[in-house]
Amino acid sequence: MELSRRTVIAGAAAAGVTAAMSGTAHATGGHKPVKSLFGKLADGTKIYSWSLENGGTRLKVLSYGGIVQSLEIPDRHGRCTNVSLGFDNIEDYVSSSPYFGALIGRYGNRIGKGRFTLDGKAYQLSVNDGENSLHGGSKGFDKVVWDIEPFTKGSDVGLYLHYTSVDGEMGYPGTLKTKVTYTLTRSGDWRIDYEATTDKATVVNLTSHVYWNLAGESSGTIYDHELSIAASRYTPVDSGLIPTGELAKVAGTPFDFRRTKTVGEDIRVAHQQLLYGKGIDHNWVLDKGSTAKPEWVATLRDPSSGRTLKIATTEPGLQFYSGNFLDGTLVGPGGSIYRQGDALCLETQHFPDSPNQPSFPSTTLRPGQTYRTTTVHSFSA
Ligand code: GLA
Repeated sequence: MELSRRTVIAGAAAAGVTAAMSGTAHATGGHKPVKSLFGKLADGTKIYSWSLENGGTRLKVLSYGGIVQSLEIPDRHGRCTNVSLGFDNIEDYVSSSPYFGALIGRYGNRIGKGRFTLDGKAYQLSVNDGENSLHGGSKGFDKVVWDIEPFTKGSDVGLYLHYTSVDGEMGYPGTLKTKVTYTLTRSGDWRIDYEATTDKATVVNLTSHVYWNLAGESSGTIYDHELSIAASRYTPVDSGLIPTGELAKVAGTPFDFRRTKTVGEDIRVAHQQLLYGKGIDHNWVLDKGSTAKPEWVATLRDPSSGRTLKIATTEPGLQFYSGNFLDGTLVGPGGSIYRQGDALCLETQHFPDSPNQPSFPSTTLRPGQTYRTTTVHSFSA
């Protein structure tokens, strides 16, 4: 496959045909995902890496945290590079990962003081971010081992990831059976379908925490990336990054990405919300709201390589985090250190702290219901 892929690229280049001209990634066709040993946890548990390829996109996924360890896409000349931050060894993922590429659950982003009340009953969650609970608590879905099963379906290839979170895990009620499907389509799209069921009323908000840098994971900051977000409002936060409950207009603020602008254009404006976040770390209220089918909500483009990411989702919110806490203490697989702004996250989700915010779309899941959300990442150059 490696060989045939290179042959396709070489052939296309020789014929003067580029990926940019065809408007899509190379149609190399999918093949069965390949499993290899990535490393072992301290208790001896083996962690596997699954490699998938389709339509010019190459994905490597770990059984630990469902982590996207590498995601390679072509630039306008057909040159592939890894556009997602990560590590080349399991030890760093276990000891120091700021959720690089991980699946996030049971609840993406923060729940104030790690507390909420549901049907009159109070719950105390694992608190791991000051006084708040972040991304599911101290051992969220990013730190558990997922059962992975590969599939090929027509021209799609992918992985089913299963994890059952027991009643009371991290303080959450109900046994939550979770299934996440990663699909690479023939046009190189990466699609994520999340599903969950519970045996007691609970709250759920699953997402994916890929750190994007479309110029490559060790290429410097993302401040020149161009971004648009189809949202007229966002949820301002307090100093602990918990939403105040207000849905504020983006008009006239640094948070206005309705018209494409670079990530860096307003990031140093002395706006109170940017001071709280040390940059952008906010939830956008998507104009389309929750939808049955994924709808386009954001486009990210690196002008230097031409690589473009379009995101479509069924979810009502998008957390845009500009890599503010990267502080030069982590080393990526290419051997470079990661510094502030070296990547950004676009996490499709329900709004942070929804269990404590009656006016936000509900994140409650009850027995008999199935939680279902979908996010599609489309790439072009
Ligand atoms: C999310 C949060 C950020 C930060 C990162 C991980 O995007 O909103 O505040 O915690 O995850 O470092």
